[in-house]
Amino acid sequence: MRTKSLKGRDFLAETDFTREEIETILNVAEDLKRERAKEIYHDDLLRSKTLFMIFYNQSLRTRNSFEAGMTQLGGHAHYLDPSKIYTPVMEGREVAYSTERVSDVARVLDRMGDAIAIRCYGDPVDWDYGAAHAMLREFARWADIPVLNMEDDVYHPFQGLADIFTVKERFGGFAGVKFVMSWAYSPSVHKPRAVPQSAILYATMMGMDVTLAHPEGMDLAPEILSQCKEFAEANKGSFEIVHDFEEAIEGAHVIYPKAWCATPIFQPPIGKASVEKTQAIFDQHKDWICTQAIMELADKNAIYMHCLPADRGFEVTDEVMDKTEGPGWTSVIFNQAENRLHVQKSVMTLVM
Ligand code: CP
Repeated sequence: MRTKSLKGRDFLAETDFTREEIETILNVAEDLKRERAKEIYHDDLLRSKTLFMIFYNQSLRTRNSFEAGMTQLGGHAHYLDPSKIYTPVMEGREVAYSTERVSDVARVLDRMGDAIAIRCYGDPVDWDYGAAHAMLREFARWADIPVLNMEDDVYHPFQGLADIFTVKERFGGFAGVKFVMSWAYSPSVHKPRAVPQSAILYATMMGMDVTLAHPEGMDLAPEILSQCKEFAEANKGSFEIVHDFEEAIEGAHVIYPKAWCATPIFQPPIGKASVEKTQAIFDQHKDWICTQAIMELADKNAIYMHCLPADRGFEVTDEVMDKTEGPGWTSVIFNQAENRLHVQKSVMTLVM
């Protein structure tokens, strides 16, 4: 376990870390979770430290798991609404007296606190794919304290950590686990890609047998897919892409069906800035819903996963979401949500 190498690091993308470093984070999360269950408290680990959290988008789980996590570690998480400060923007996008350049915001906050966490994707960057991630990198370039990614338009690295932590808890490890990340229908086309991209990156990094399932036209970013192929090869796992929902689920141990946007929603040159074209692709695939019958195709001990919030009745039925115990396959969505707290406490302890 090499914990020293993590001190002071930003946590912006899982691809910035080695498998050994990610496993260290999971091990520390396991310790923190186990000890908290035994009422051993950790309020000396980040005593008197401050985490600034800037949310350009809404949140239930991310905000509350970071806030609760900082409280449990003895520090304080400070919520910043971009519309109530001078909205941080990249150089060249400033509007007098309503925005402030990222480089200035970063250098002010690093004089006062110990880490900056940011969520930004979609509308705040006009669906210009990669622009939000670039802004987080710009914060990190200027801040002398760690910058944490609470979800941008490319990665959701804390959600992905909680996901593999949950898989490890359930199956005891990763080798031989068939992990299916699948697209599912939603009436809303404004769905970022970060969750599926982070999920398949971590799953291939950990050497699982990973299937990415989606209808034609729902492709994820090509550079993410190339990275997954490399990870699968290096870590003795596998990676395949299929376009048939039922075929993907057969024999799976992990079933993670979730909507993400189609490429035309993004600004050119990646997309066509067209909600209509995106909607047209979505509307052809309303049958991509995770039902009990779909779950019956999986391994008998399979788990249903979702980062939440889920679109009940569209992405998944109530019967699947709410089968959180009993014989056979189960839904682990609330374990996943809880595990956000434990993995984030681990990363904050290690980097701050
Ligand atoms: N899964 C997740 O990031 O949830 P929130 O949008 O509620 O933070």
